[in-house]
Amino acid sequence: MSRILDILAATLVICFTVGLDALPFHSLIKSKQHQVGLSSTDPQFTEKYFTQILDHFNFNSMGNGSFQQRYLITDKYWKTGYGPIFFYTGNEGDIWEFALNSGFIIELAAQQGALVIFAEHRYYGKSLPFGEDSFHIPEVGLLTVEQALADYAVMITELKQELVASDCPVIVFGGSYGGMLSVYMRLKYPNIVAGALAASAPILSTAGLGDPRQFFRDVTADFQNISPECSDAVRGAFGQLKELAERQDYSLIKEKFALCKAPSSPQDVHQLNGLLRNAFTLMAMLDYPYSTHFMGDMPANPVKVGCDTMLSGPDLLTNLRNTAGIVYNSTGELTCFNLYKLFVECADPTGCGLGFNSMAWDYQACTEIDLCFESNNVTDMFPPMFFTEEDRESYCTKRWGVVPRPNWLKVHFWGDDLFTASNIIFSNGDLDPWANGGVRKSLSSSLVAINISGGAHHLDLRGSNDADPGSVIKARKTESQLIEEWVKMEKTRLKHL
Ligand SMILES: *[C@@H]1O[C@H](CO)[C@@H](O)[C@H](O)[C@H]1NC(C)=O
Ligand SMILES: *[C@@H]1O[C@H](CO)[C@@H](O)[C@H](O)[C@H]1NC(C)=O
Ligand SMILES: *[C@@H]1O[C@H](CO)[C@@H](O)[C@H](O)[C@H]1NC(C)=O
Ligand SMILES: *[C@@H]1O[C@H](CO)[C@@H](O)[C@H](O)[C@H]1NC(C)=O
Repeated sequence: MSRILDILAATLVICFTVGLDALPFHSLIKSKQHQVGLSSTDPQFTEKYFTQILDHFNFNSMGNGSFQQRYLITDKYWKTGYGPIFFYTGNEGDIWEFALNSGFIIELAAQQGALVIFAEHRYYGKSLPFGEDSFHIPEVGLLTVEQALADYAVMITELKQELVASDCPVIVFGGSYGGMLSVYMRLKYPNIVAGALAASAPILSTAGLGDPRQFFRDVTADFQNISPECSDAVRGAFGQLKELAERQDYSLIKEKFALCKAPSSPQDVHQLNGLLRNAFTLMAMLDYPYSTHFMGDMPANPVKVGCDTMLSGPDLLTNLRNTAGIVYNSTGELTCFNLYKLFVECADPTGCGLGFNSMAWDYQACTEIDLCFESNNVTDMFPPMFFTEEDRESYCTKRWGVVPRPNWLKVHFWGDDLFTASNIIFSNGDLDPWANGGVRKSLSSSLVAINISGGAHHLDLRGSNDADPGSVIKARKTESQLIEEWVKMEKTRLKHL
């Protein structure tokens, strides 16, 4: 997750953002002006606030109160009082970012006469329960997956009443962690939610199921698939950096990587490695066939651009710096790399981004969401950087005073034992390093896995684009048909209640 922000104070601080699902504020403002996507549909969202319960699970605590939760709503396509409700379960970022990068939901709403709501996750964007104090201890304690799901359940229930929509089926949508929330909504609140489209939702890896090497192995595979020379060049460049570090040739490292300040310790070199690795993570996740402004600015086919850059400059170290520049220097205005400002190490080795949203995500990675991924220079092209459960626990205890529960998602949200669930689509693109942390095989006729060949991180949620591969067009068609069926079934069920 990423970001920037000024929060309640009116000062805007623009930082570069990196990480799982967040975006820089400047790109947000830009996209707001253009409105959504390339389809002619302008959904005309209205931004509203919902008075939400602070603590759904304790009647007698500091949670005895409410906070203002932001949501976006449009009834432009709604068959009033009849059509379904498409509800995006907001994830770790400003809700506008997701609304502006999920044009498929709008296109589907136009086809199926749906009301569309994008709800912001508590502790992100403008939905801060305790304002600027939200990231203090103990205030941060009300940031849990369970509270977020209960927020959505309460919001849906009350808005349905307000809008006189009690017979309108609700379908939830989400990408990445938002997709995990969509799955969980269907598991926990099937009384409220008729089905879920979970795009690129790594529900298995984040529950500690799977191989900690999987993520960076799959990032590497994306670059290797462009050409083995490409991944070899990356590995070679990191190897040269390691040699310079061993010789403590810090001034050459500063020069080659255009650092603002020369490194002076192994810790600084570790930080540089983390920053560089993160650039490859983002290019792999956001490897869309057209340029995007989601989690930063990316050119079309960034992995290809990255490989071209790795293989075309004067020497491997310069090439590696320029490749990182695709991510950190997309404006072309970066004068030098500031190691600790451009990248912040946190409990998510795939990146937390910057600013308040990154603190919220760090806390979630320290509690319920398990992101213990490692690189090792054997199954991947990156320097050995480990992040074990022990590392996680020691970091989280220090940073937040919490002990992570590696098993909790598995216990509470069923792990891979989903057989008794229904009406969930698990879509994944084969370019996405998150894909193999999710459900890749259909588990029943209503637990449907979809592969999107040539697809990056939740490409299917994005609006239609001329550069879309056939696989995503087909995936969206299947998704549309399944959702239409679920809506029909739910209509019948609601009528008989
Ligand atoms: C909870 O809120 C009610 C109503 O505002 C108030 O009377 C009560 O004292 C509060 N309880 C706690 C523990 O804060
Ligand atoms: C950022 O990009 C510009 C334009 O390509 C380039 O001149 C500059 O050297 C880059 N900055 C860094 C720190 O690499
Ligand atoms: C990666 O492994 C190669 C040998 O396979 C070695 O030469 C290189 O130094 C290693 N790189 C790092 C960063 O450890
Ligand atoms: C999707 O691709 C994965 C990995 O190649 C494969 O294991 C799986 O069976 C495929 N699933 C479907 C539904 O085609």
